[in-house]
Amino acid sequence: MCGIVGAVAKRNIVPILVNGLLRLEYRGYDSAGLVVVHDGKLDRVRSAGRVAELKDKSAHTYGELGIAHTRWATHGVPSERNAHPHMSRNLIAVVHNGIIENYEELRTELTAQGYEFTSDTDTEVIAHLVHSHYKQGNLLLATQTALKELVGAYAIGVVAADNPHQLIAARKGSPLLLGVGKGEHFVASDMSALLQVTKNVVYLEEGDVVEVNLADYRIFDQQGNAVQRPVHVSELDNDSVELGEYQHYMQKEIHEQPQALANTLESVCNSQSLVPGIFGADANTIFPQIENILILACGTSNHSGQVARYWLEEIAGIPCSVEIASEYRYRVSVPNPKTLVVTISQSGETADTLAALIHAKATGHNFTLGICNVPESAIIRQSKLRLLTRAGPEIGVASTKAFTTQLAALFLLTLVLAKLRGRLDAAQEQQFLHELRHLPTAVQKVLALEPKIAAMAKYFANKHHALFLGRGMHFPIAAEGALKLKEISYIHAEAYPAGELKHGPLALVDADMPVVSVAPNDTLLEKLKSNLQEVKARGGELFVFADADTHMKESDGVHILQMPEHAGFLSPILHTIPLQLLAYYVALEKGTDVDKPRNLAKSVTVE
Ligand code: M6R
Repeated sequence: MCGIVGAVAKRNIVPILVNGLLRLEYRGYDSAGLVVVHDGKLDRVRSAGRVAELKDKSAHTYGELGIAHTRWATHGVPSERNAHPHMSRNLIAVVHNGIIENYEELRTELTAQGYEFTSDTDTEVIAHLVHSHYKQGNLLLATQTALKELVGAYAIGVVAADNPHQLIAARKGSPLLLGVGKGEHFVASDMSALLQVTKNVVYLEEGDVVEVNLADYRIFDQQGNAVQRPVHVSELDNDSVELGEYQHYMQKEIHEQPQALANTLESVCNSQSLVPGIFGADANTIFPQIENILILACGTSNHSGQVARYWLEEIAGIPCSVEIASEYRYRVSVPNPKTLVVTISQSGETADTLAALIHAKATGHNFTLGICNVPESAIIRQSKLRLLTRAGPEIGVASTKAFTTQLAALFLLTLVLAKLRGRLDAAQEQQFLHELRHLPTAVQKVLALEPKIAAMAKYFANKHHALFLGRGMHFPIAAEGALKLKEISYIHAEAYPAGELKHGPLALVDADMPVVSVAPNDTLLEKLKSNLQEVKARGGELFVFADADTHMKESDGVHILQMPEHAGFLSPILHTIPLQLLAYYVALEKGTDVDKPRNLAKSVTVE
């Protein structure tokens, strides 16, 4: 949550800061601001609106050193006075991503020292604290000293009015990257903001502080020792974060799924057999020892874990439980050192998932696997084993391609474990590999249903509630469909296993309650059909996404969207696509901000 960018160069860096913020806006979009150092002064521009407004307001601002921020409000309402950067006595300016937990006591101490607070944020204490330690122009030392007094999580950028070519940045618990240019340097919350200026990047580690100058930079670890960190060349290109022909990132990302799946499955589909090594060298020794699996994740990533539970138990025969990461981390559980703890995350920075992983390790779980879309993210670094989904940058707040690639990765995990446990013979292995190779094409076919789904979406535009039904491994898909709809269209949507309807939720069904159902041609189809009849008999309007070979027919109050034929175990991946499209087109009908839905942010790096 919150995005930060900083730059020091021998040219006007304001457009770089603003373009960087536009890339980072998915991390928070309550307000935006920047500050440049110019002629020995801090020149600050802030806006209570989006980055586009900041861009207009800063059109005539010039500076060769500066920091910028796009905010997701935690402390203090979204407003200009709470927008970053925050300043201390017109000398020090700070941008911050994270939460300072001891800000109240620091605020009291600093107020007693005569510092005047002009915002309700936790961040402002950092500015005054750095100011209080700023002696003889040593901004690095002042920042390092201030950081020792902070409790909480942060990625920060700091500049001083009398220090025209130096930026100090630091991270602990929130991501921060250093961009290495020629005679110019940059910092940002993620790579997408840096691609406009460089592909050379240093991933700062926990506790690192970096002194960024025009010609060079110096990194210090948590203990204050100078350290070298490798410079990576990013594989991303600027086009991958451009909107291109699409109206929204969500639409673009829905359509990128065939390629994202092909990329995620590339190494496996090009080989003739499945090996544990795709999860890391240690998988060969860890996998044979595991007795069960515990999946920890939030939101959409949790739904992918819920689907995987069906696969892992049925195909690999291994007990699996799935927990909401924010709940697991605070409950007393019974650890089993032979459990494989799997964390799933698009960003790899979700605070609750990361904390759950750290908690699991602290209780004695040593076998950890991270499934994640961002290399070098905190979750990847904290995990012994890893599998990267290769979905590419996901910018729309509503997760789409990350979800289907997570499912692909989890299916690979299932197959590898099934093989190790003697539950997958060579013929079955080849058959699954064949189905995986075909998956991108199958998804492409479902995407072709887009116009029909767009037409269906019109029905939902004036509805306030919707129910989503599914059974078995398609129940989590119904839950994902409901999450997508509520997230971007603000329609209240709930998912139920279809058999559960009669135990309460059926009371909600009337002509104003659209009921969406996922209807694959699996062993539960006839049961599901009965459940749907129960809805129809109560005047409910049904929208059924049915496999072609179910031969379900339209009738009064029953709208059928015909999917391709049943895809076996991979069916949940195919059935996800129309629900994503439905949510997208309903949001368009309602005119909501699809990529930046209200109150949300992409990477939830606070509790
Ligand atoms: O980056 P993560 O996958 O860890 O994020 C987890 C959730 O915050 C995320 O999936 C969220 O639920 C999405 N906005 C849903 O579309």
